[in-house]
Amino acid sequence: MTVSEIFESMDYGPAPESAAEALAWLVDMGDRFGHFIDGGFTEPGDGFDSKNPATGETLATLTQATQQDVDAAVKAARRAQGKWERLGGPGRARYLYAIARLLQKHARLFAVLETLDNGKPIRESRDIDVPLAQRHFYYHAGMAQLMEEALPGRVALGVCGQIIPWNFPLLMLAWKVAPALAMGNTVVLKPAEYTSLTALLFADICRQAGLPKGVVNIVTGDGAVGEMIVKAEVDKIAFTGSTSVGRRIREATAGSGKSLTLELGGKSPYIVFEDADIDSAIEGLVDAIWFNQGQVCCAGSRLLVQEGIAERFHERLRARMDKLRIGDPLDKCIDVGALVDPVQLAAVREMVEGNAAGQMYQARVPLPARGCFYPPTLIAGLAPSDALMQEEIFGPVLVSCTFRTPSEAVELANNTRYGLAATVWTENVNLALDIAPKLAAGVVWVNATNLFDAAAGFGGVRESGFGREGGWEGLAAYTKPVGTARVLKRVDAFDGAGGPADPIDRTAKLYVGGKQARPDGGYSRAVWSRSGALLGHVGLGNRKDVRNAVEAAQGAAGWAKTTGHLRAQILYYIAENLSARATEFARRLDAMTGTRGGAKEVEASIQRLFTYAAWADKYDGRVHGVPIRGVAIAMNEPVGVIGALCADEAPLLGLVSVMAPALAMGNRVVLVASEPYPLAATDFYQVLDTSDVPAGVVNILTGSHAELAGPLAGHLNLDAMWSFSSTPLSEAVERASAGNLKRTWVNDGRARDWFANDSAEWLAQASEVKNIWVPYGE
Ligand code: NAI
Repeated sequence: MTVSEIFESMDYGPAPESAAEALAWLVDMGDRFGHFIDGGFTEPGDGFDSKNPATGETLATLTQATQQDVDAAVKAARRAQGKWERLGGPGRARYLYAIARLLQKHARLFAVLETLDNGKPIRESRDIDVPLAQRHFYYHAGMAQLMEEALPGRVALGVCGQIIPWNFPLLMLAWKVAPALAMGNTVVLKPAEYTSLTALLFADICRQAGLPKGVVNIVTGDGAVGEMIVKAEVDKIAFTGSTSVGRRIREATAGSGKSLTLELGGKSPYIVFEDADIDSAIEGLVDAIWFNQGQVCCAGSRLLVQEGIAERFHERLRARMDKLRIGDPLDKCIDVGALVDPVQLAAVREMVEGNAAGQMYQARVPLPARGCFYPPTLIAGLAPSDALMQEEIFGPVLVSCTFRTPSEAVELANNTRYGLAATVWTENVNLALDIAPKLAAGVVWVNATNLFDAAAGFGGVRESGFGREGGWEGLAAYTKPVGTARVLKRVDAFDGAGGPADPIDRTAKLYVGGKQARPDGGYSRAVWSRSGALLGHVGLGNRKDVRNAVEAAQGAAGWAKTTGHLRAQILYYIAENLSARATEFARRLDAMTGTRGGAKEVEASIQRLFTYAAWADKYDGRVHGVPIRGVAIAMNEPVGVIGALCADEAPLLGLVSVMAPALAMGNRVVLVASEPYPLAATDFYQVLDTSDVPAGVVNILTGSHAELAGPLAGHLNLDAMWSFSSTPLSEAVERASAGNLKRTWVNDGRARDWFANDSAEWLAQASEVKNIWVPYGE
């Protein structure tokens, strides 16, 4: 036999990893698990089996949590929280560090148990899931250590309810538990019903680390248990899972004052330009869509390939697919393991079988006779609107279409309701760096894919959810500013004495698209002073006015592309023009509010404008030193169009405080003026008119907050909604926002000191962090 014949005929032999130790641990634990509450395991109760999806064998029996179990877990977490927080950052860091060490010490046990329970190849659980979970604990041990120094004035939220999915059971646990604990919170975590075993092993690790009782509580069960956690007396819900459940959680927590982060689904584009290194792009694609059987929220599941190379690329891809090895996930040579459960297998089958479009190719590889296996599949030649180009399949199924020009690639990439991740493959650095900022995604990988690290925030935009996990920005979601806020009292308009009708029409109009606009409904209302004198009239905006204003703001998208320097100049200009009319504004404020605080409020508004003009070209991103030969560039981008119900009690300062940071970061705004005192806002648009603010960047509506809140928060082309109204509208705003899962920021009935300014908080709310991973060198 010649050497080349040997190479031709050589095949991988099996290299199975032993399951013995993991199975022994299950036996040790009695094969039946209760919950982990207040530092110990509860007696197992009625429940369900956890199965190995590769074989169908039962691994252990788990307990379905009852309401009492969830209550007990939340109570234990609440009891433990104060003491845990008072332990201080360095004290907590020691525990996080101990957990990281133990995860490392038991790495193989975790990897094997994860693979048995989830069906993912051991190569992945051993080399990716478990090391990354350790890294999260190490990284956040450091964050705990640094908290007091690096995050002054921030404190823990309290008790966090955390609900995680089955695709990365241990890793998702680490993403949620590590930052929460580091910042002084305690947690009640529910793993997914298909994959709870590594969470229970983790509970065992917490015991070994001597973690104080009640700091980590783990309850098992299905979505019903998740719902109980969402409703419980917790201060935050952190959820990763499907967009439909995320939406329900958004609705269920509306108005509860609970902080919320959602990490949801995706249909992430994988863009290959014709100058790409094709072999690398194909290997990347294997990672993008066949990693974890495609059950990855940020899977590169939508291939967009430039027309000139499409045929060649698909051909080589099909050849590569035929070389993928599918089978026993415990075999170290396996590329593709089992889907998590027969339910998921059936869902993937149904989606593929329901599709008649395009040309389907399935890898010509043998599949095991039993277990939840599905062949790597490519469906090429789809149209952008085809269901499979839009819907998340969450399985090993790649869909593809072609494009001609870079701008068409961007258009196709962004043609989705999701916005989690994107991959760009090209040898042209200019092209990559031109495309990356244009993609609607929280993470962009250049010439690489599915890279993760604790130092780089992960999370999406649009219906992929909001909030980031990891990095500095991930911490914000587990802390709040120190201090307790006063209750916000409702501010009512004054009644009029019914004086004589004004012969001159002084009805201030709305301000939409840089022009004064009559309210669509044709209604207006009088604004009276405290003593009952008529000060003027304002239009009552309605749903149609909201639509016009959002449309105008959408049309002003060019603002997002302006430089920070230019935006600073315009904000300075607004400040100067307001300053020139300071006395007049102060008088107007005094007349409307019946106080003498006008001059002070105008001065503070001018200062606020100067402050954010100053920030406009200084709120820099970061460059994360991630553990690859390369960097992750965390860019601060505008959120898009932000709607806001402005503060009633500070009619000018409240409006300026919202507008200035939003504009500084490149957002456009639709502002609803103070309801009782709207005239400062309608005077203000004259200032805007003389300050070179492009049409549509700032739009101002007047009218009833209660009536405008729903249409504005529910508008599908609005990217974020803030409410500082003194009418209790937090619930309405958060509920209406569930449609497109826009970001919200509401006052929950708490007063804000408008004279104080926290630039860090406002700038973070006004921006979206995009992490662009750029590998370099060898
Ligand atoms: P899911 O969203 O139902 O499950 C995720 C977690 O939420 C689990 O722990 C589950 O028990 C819990 N849950 C379910 N209903 C709940 C409710 N009403 N309130 C609170 N918690 C609840 O995901 P599922 O059904 O397992 O998978 C369905 C599809 O979801 C997948 O095919 C995939 O498209 C998507 N998915 C996306 C994930 C991601 O990482 N973005 C992860 C898992 C699923």
